[in-house]
Amino acid sequence: MKRQVIRPRRLRRTAAIRGLVRETRLSPEQLIYPMFAAAGSNRATEIEAIPGQFRWPIDGLCEEAGRAYERGVKSVLIFGIPESKDEMGSGAYDPKGVVQEAVRALKRALPDLTVMTDVCLCQYTSHGHCGVVDESGCVMNDPTLELLARTAVSHAAAGADVAAPSDMMDGRVGAIREALDESEFENVAVMSYAAKYASAFYGPFREAAESAPAFGDRKSYQMDPANQREALKEVALDIEQGADIVMVKPALAYLDVIQLVRQRFDVPVAAYNVSGEYAMVKAAAGNGWLDEKAVVLEILTAIRRAGADMIITYFAKEAADWLKKSI
Ligand code: PBG
Repeated sequence: MKRQVIRPRRLRRTAAIRGLVRETRLSPEQLIYPMFAAAGSNRATEIEAIPGQFRWPIDGLCEEAGRAYERGVKSVLIFGIPESKDEMGSGAYDPKGVVQEAVRALKRALPDLTVMTDVCLCQYTSHGHCGVVDESGCVMNDPTLELLARTAVSHAAAGADVAAPSDMMDGRVGAIREALDESEFENVAVMSYAAKYASAFYGPFREAAESAPAFGDRKSYQMDPANQREALKEVALDIEQGADIVMVKPALAYLDVIQLVRQRFDVPVAAYNVSGEYAMVKAAAGNGWLDEKAVVLEILTAIRRAGADMIITYFAKEAADWLKKSI
């Protein structure tokens, strides 16, 4: 019998050799920690469907961001939970709104932290849609653009480094870029949720933000999970309009989309490891069915391998700890 000459196992023999030939690296500075700032609260409340994540009062938010920063996670993505909501989502662009106050406090406490803000109306509208709606319940595209642009400018005025529109209205990146530039925030970057799918994996987030739509669903603006070519069209449009970073969301069920976007475009690609993906791991780990640490590092590595330069993940802080210890 002829001896086997090519033996891939030679390069898997020791941890040191595996380290030499490893193709994908994961480091804490590639992680973005999504956090919820809650208005009018003075203590952190845990979010049931996203266990281990909290609705933070502003001082608690700064302390938690500090703990993440110490571990090497240097970027956060801030979501706001306002005290009240209205038809026009006015809390989103209130200069004294919860995100605006949170950004000011974060920048004071941690000047080197990269503060990204989610730009959308759904947490602030009484009907829970990502834009303004007409009498028939239709989400109106162009009237929403102006409100999104105001929201982004108010975040920039508070000190945000990156505005991240997640609404999926057509033309919002251009509207936001133009408004930022007019207000002399030309150094504030835009990370667009470019290929954002109408996904059931956002369920836990909507519980956290109390932002489930009161009627209908988001399928008339978020993408159909069946589509891949359309993601390329969305990404191309956002880049044309000035997006600095493009995002694919969710991550795990859309690794093919991440890979394709990485191959076709030359801008940094972000992937959002969303609340439902986090909740599944937490539930299984809580039951003793999965090794949480091993599974999380495998998932995050896989998202990087697919082509994401950066990953938004609720595991950011823990993953940073685990990565330090595994070196
Ligand atoms: C707001 C927004 C959502 C998420 C991020 N920004 C919810 C949605 O579109 O319904 C989801 C994040 C997650 O599930 O972790 N538009």
